[in-house]
Amino acid sequence: MAPVKKPFHGGDVYAASRELGRDVSELIDFSASINPLGPSPKVWRAITGARHLVPHYPDPECWDLRQALASRWRVEPARILMGNGSIELIHALPRALKIDHLLLVQPTFSEYAASMARAGGYVTTVCADRDEQYALPIDRLCRLLERPTKGSRAFDGILLCNPNSPTGQACGTDDVMKLARAVQRRGVWLIVDETFADYCPERSILPSASSWSRVVVLRSLTKFYGLPGLRVGYAVAVPTVIQQLRNELPPWSVNAMGQVAALAALHDMAHAKKSLRFVLKERTRMAKELAGLPGCTLFPAHANFLFMELPPGWHGGKLTEQLRREGLLIRDCSSVPGANRRSVRIAVRSREDNDRLLKALSRVLSEKRS
Ligand SMILES: Cc1ncc(COP(=O)(O)O)c(C=O)c1O
Repeated sequence: MAPVKKPFHGGDVYAASRELGRDVSELIDFSASINPLGPSPKVWRAITGARHLVPHYPDPECWDLRQALASRWRVEPARILMGNGSIELIHALPRALKIDHLLLVQPTFSEYAASMARAGGYVTTVCADRDEQYALPIDRLCRLLERPTKGSRAFDGILLCNPNSPTGQACGTDDVMKLARAVQRRGVWLIVDETFADYCPERSILPSASSWSRVVVLRSLTKFYGLPGLRVGYAVAVPTVIQQLRNELPPWSVNAMGQVAALAALHDMAHAKKSLRFVLKERTRMAKELAGLPGCTLFPAHANFLFMELPPGWHGGKLTEQLRREGLLIRDCSSVPGANRRSVRIAVRSREDNDRLLKALSRVLSEKRS
């Protein structure tokens, strides 16, 4: 098998720190979209109070955490499986469900295709249309599912990222359920990655999808709960699917601190509400400011980041490089399949950080014009 090419991701502050000779704390990372308010203060207290757990293996069942999630989603714990970030589950799914041919919407998160390549399968892609602001093409997916193109092999699965990264587009539950009904009829899998759904909870298909035998929903505690360094994600599906998926994971996927922190984060509803309010307000302000930069085009945003096209003549990679030298990391999307070369993704951060980026952007973009 050919070696799997490693996808490039945002959030690699360590590489930037080595390259720029600056401490991680001196960098402002807009390339990974993490809650700008940080984790709940209860997370810090929980981690400190759980030091005595370090000399033990973590609970392989993630019992307390699964109970908490089960009660949040009003489902049985047997419908929930924890993973070392949702990424571990993304990579286990093709083998667990024997998915050989996956249908994807581009542009999207590169790890879906990487997981298929690693499992020896392949993907077929449908491009979201830039002129439709990259809206997720649900009707096209349904049509392809009902009538695969002539000569092509039928799909075993569809992966929908909702809200989608990097475009920020999202569809409503009616659309996802339409797709879910279609996959049930055709005996195909539907995986819905809801990693960013905490920012638009009304678009999540949980808990209703938890009883659909062909649907798997992925969630993460990375973005909204601000725990990227601890690696906690989960899948929700019917118990037989959860068991299949579990068979593909090593034991003790989620370490003790990750479990304790995730539990504390889930219990702090006040911090969650405050975070959501803050991000939605700051996102609106940022979007308005960015759209006001001459020649920049903003796309509809449903998560905690903004997808933007730079003025004609610009290249996402070039701008990213220029800002990087100033310690401001944004996500270059110029080489993301299905995206325009002028595309970048910018996380919503604190007001102060956002103002710093806006100032730098406005200066760099005007330098080139003059
Ligand atoms: C759309 C999407 N899904 C899943 C992941 C993986 O998240 P984690 O493994 O941190 O839960 C990411 C990370 O960037 C992502 O952007």
